[in-house]
Amino acid sequence: MAVRNTIILAAGKGTRMKSKLYKVLHRICGRTMVDHVLTQVEKTHMDNVVTVVGYGAEDVEHELGDRTKYVVQEKQLGTGDAVIKAEPLLAGLDGTTMVVSGDTPLFTSETFEKLFKYHEEKQAAVTILTSKAPNPTGYGRIVRNDLGIVEKIVEQKDASKEEQAINEINTGVYVFDNQALFDSLHKINNNNAQGEYYLTDVIEILRAAGRIIAAYQMDDFNESMGVNDRIALSRATKVMQARINHHHMAEGVSIINPEDTYIDVDIQIGSDTVIEPGVQIHGQTTIGSDCKIGANSEIIDCKLHDHITVTSSYLQESEMLDYSDIGPYSHLRPNALIGEHVHLGNFVEVKKAQIDEGTKVGHLTYIGNAHLGRNINVGCGVIFANYDGKNKHNITVGDASFIGSNSNLIAPINIADHSFIAAGSTITDDVNEYDMAIARARQTNKPGYYQKLPYDG
Ligand code: UD1
Ligand code: CA
Repeated sequence: MAVRNTIILAAGKGTRMKSKLYKVLHRICGRTMVDHVLTQVEKTHMDNVVTVVGYGAEDVEHELGDRTKYVVQEKQLGTGDAVIKAEPLLAGLDGTTMVVSGDTPLFTSETFEKLFKYHEEKQAAVTILTSKAPNPTGYGRIVRNDLGIVEKIVEQKDASKEEQAINEINTGVYVFDNQALFDSLHKINNNNAQGEYYLTDVIEILRAAGRIIAAYQMDDFNESMGVNDRIALSRATKVMQARINHHHMAEGVSIINPEDTYIDVDIQIGSDTVIEPGVQIHGQTTIGSDCKIGANSEIIDCKLHDHITVTSSYLQESEMLDYSDIGPYSHLRPNALIGEHVHLGNFVEVKKAQIDEGTKVGHLTYIGNAHLGRNINVGCGVIFANYDGKNKHNITVGDASFIGSNSNLIAPINIADHSFIAAGSTITDDVNEYDMAIARARQTNKPGYYQKLPYDG
């Protein structure tokens, strides 16, 4: 049975990134480059996927898990040497093997499919995926003869002046007849400017053996962009960002300024939601319909239901139910569950707390390790003092209670339904239903005392 295999090359250190992190583990829109590649390969339905790892092997394996098999290339002797490491897993199989680099994160499975189809039509030994680059510097060049037939690929550093003028580049993606690939790989050498075993040399070898070399030129150079340094990383991010934003807009989301909106891959957003400039949405976030995400908000791993308004706020690992709102300048820390129609105003921080339907927390308040019932009014400047210096303790506040401004609630404490805390109180004891608690020093007025003071305002 003819099989389809893919080899992903990911053993290089990526010296040009000048980073502690291995090149293929740099992220674009929330996902590592090599994961982007593997995800698209998976969509193309392969029988075998083998990733060649070397530098940072453990980290790459940790990142990709058992979605692929691995082979190790101890020394980075070149792309040809890397591919040959997969031989023990693939040699002898009848079928087609695609080779793709872990540093070309923008390819789509549609392009891979087209490449396979073209390859099968041409009955070629190899089909090279090429594109026309506005600036081909750094890429291998596709050298064709007068009839337009591909003769070889020349690397930048080995290219003559004339060859450097060619703007058709090798994208680093190829499909090979599996047997032809491994047979010819044994014939390459490292007599070149970089002293490396180039996979690209296989083309000349197959051509000399009279095999058919095909080249499929894709339309969109951007999709084939290779990332070797931080400049290319930012360019690739821009392309991915535009793709993601375009997708959401096509699905009915309004993005006021897509150039300045940063949404990770795999985020779901409902229709008629409006996203203002400078917003970042990361991780496993989902956002419902008819929401408004205000300028410069950052949302990480959150679930926002429908009709939510977020105004210039920072939200982490939390959930907001329908018609709730937050901000400006507020912060949900992990495990905040904000109920329907809850209003959180400005400078409010909530952590590990549940706030039930209809409760209002208007201004300058910290709530941590707490459960607030329904329809509570929390005044300005209220502090849930949940930490005794060693442990965190809980606070509960019952339905329809009123917490006056500038109160401190010292945990652990239970405040029953329908309680009233007078403003400025420091509450250390439980409060029963329908009681009012007041805990502040009484005011004394001293008549005429102003004139006895040194103050001369
Ligand atoms: C390579 C191609 C070039 C093409 C470009 C497209 C070769 C010789 N050159 O150049 O024609 O235009 O990609 O982006 O193939 N790697 C290993 N082991 C090694 C060397 C590299 O696994 O020993 C991996 C790297 O991690 C990387 C990929 O192979 O993911 C490509 O290597 P890189 O050094 O980036 O090649 P380029 O110079 O970009
Ligand atoms: Ca590269």
